[in-house]
Amino acid sequence: MKLKTYSGSDIAGKRVLVRVDFNVPLSPKGGVSDDTRLKAHVPLIDELSKAGARVGLCSHLGRPKGQVNLKYTLKPVADELAKLIGREVQFAPDCVGEDVKSSVDALPPGGVVVLENLRFYAEEEKNDDEFAKKLAAPFEIFIMDAFSASHRAHASTRAITNHLKSFAGPLLIREIEVLGETRDNPKHPFVLILGGAKVSDKISVIENLMDKVDAIIIGGGMSYTFLKAQGFEIGHSLCELEKLDFASEMLSRSKEKGVEILLQTDAVVANEVSIDASSKVVPVDAIPPDRMGLDIGPATCRSFREALVGAKTVLWNGPMGVFEMAPFAEGTKAIAEELAKITKEGAMTVIGGGDSAAAIAMFGLEKEVTHVSTGGGASLEFFEGKVLPGVEPYVL
Ligand code: 3PG
Ligand code: MG
Repeated sequence: MKLKTYSGSDIAGKRVLVRVDFNVPLSPKGGVSDDTRLKAHVPLIDELSKAGARVGLCSHLGRPKGQVNLKYTLKPVADELAKLIGREVQFAPDCVGEDVKSSVDALPPGGVVVLENLRFYAEEEKNDDEFAKKLAAPFEIFIMDAFSASHRAHASTRAITNHLKSFAGPLLIREIEVLGETRDNPKHPFVLILGGAKVSDKISVIENLMDKVDAIIIGGGMSYTFLKAQGFEIGHSLCELEKLDFASEMLSRSKEKGVEILLQTDAVVANEVSIDASSKVVPVDAIPPDRMGLDIGPATCRSFREALVGAKTVLWNGPMGVFEMAPFAEGTKAIAEELAKITKEGAMTVIGGGDSAAAIAMFGLEKEVTHVSTGGGASLEFFEGKVLPGVEPYVL
């Protein structure tokens, strides 16, 4: 999928508004606790500065629900960005109005200003066109680089394009290129790995990709609904009773289509989700009634790894267990390690954002796979086959 982008003359010396996603985790002591999303936008910011543009960066942070709430101010993010790019970054304590215009006009060529949280205005999430017009006022062109917010039809991701000449930024382009190749033109064998807590989050992805994949590996909390649908007793494990029918239907549909579905054969179970809980490995037909499955077991790790050998395309979304706690991290780690290995052998390995991105970073393997998406919700919706409202204006 090709997107419309700018040329050098579109940006040189211009006042450019960029929609970034600076929705980053803040540490309780203040400051940014994970700067992955900031780093992802640095190449564009540097490119614009070099071209002598005056750069305004706009973003949301958290969900302040249309109210000014300084718990969600972008000021600490602006400070962190200054450290990352090694030059001054201004901060405008609002995102619309005369003061923003003065701040932008006062920037030297190449200067950067971060605007205050867009979601301090209810109009942002309403995709309000008047608000978008105000946001656009100090600028000449708009660049959308926030892939991870592109599933939202908000004023800064959509209506803004009614008011400024608009282009896709390099992060958005890279995401759509890689995710688009995976979704629409995968090399086979194509293996989909799904995990995470809920079946309901993944239904549309399964439905959209069922005809394209050769195998689906299912682990994590969502797998217990599938096990129960096959008649296993799953103790206190997570289960979505209202999704049992979907799980059964999917298991039989996959058989008809010749798509192999791999479920776990053993599990690490414990009586509670706690790092101190006493845990043990059991086969899935022997999960005690008072225990819950919190990771896939070692036999499953082996069979899942074997299923990935020789794959040409792999898409991974959702961890295999409670990887944040060491006793339940092995399954997720095994997948991350196998993906790193097959990437070296030429497979295209793509990590949907969110928890799987956090997991692969925790194991230090994020550079060993083909692509780690910056978008959690956005990449899920993309793989559901949706046209994302923040991407649509640039599709060529
Ligand atoms: C995200 O972190 O998923 C994006 O920044 C979008 O945030 P939202 O889910 O609050 O719209
Ligand atoms: Mg989200």
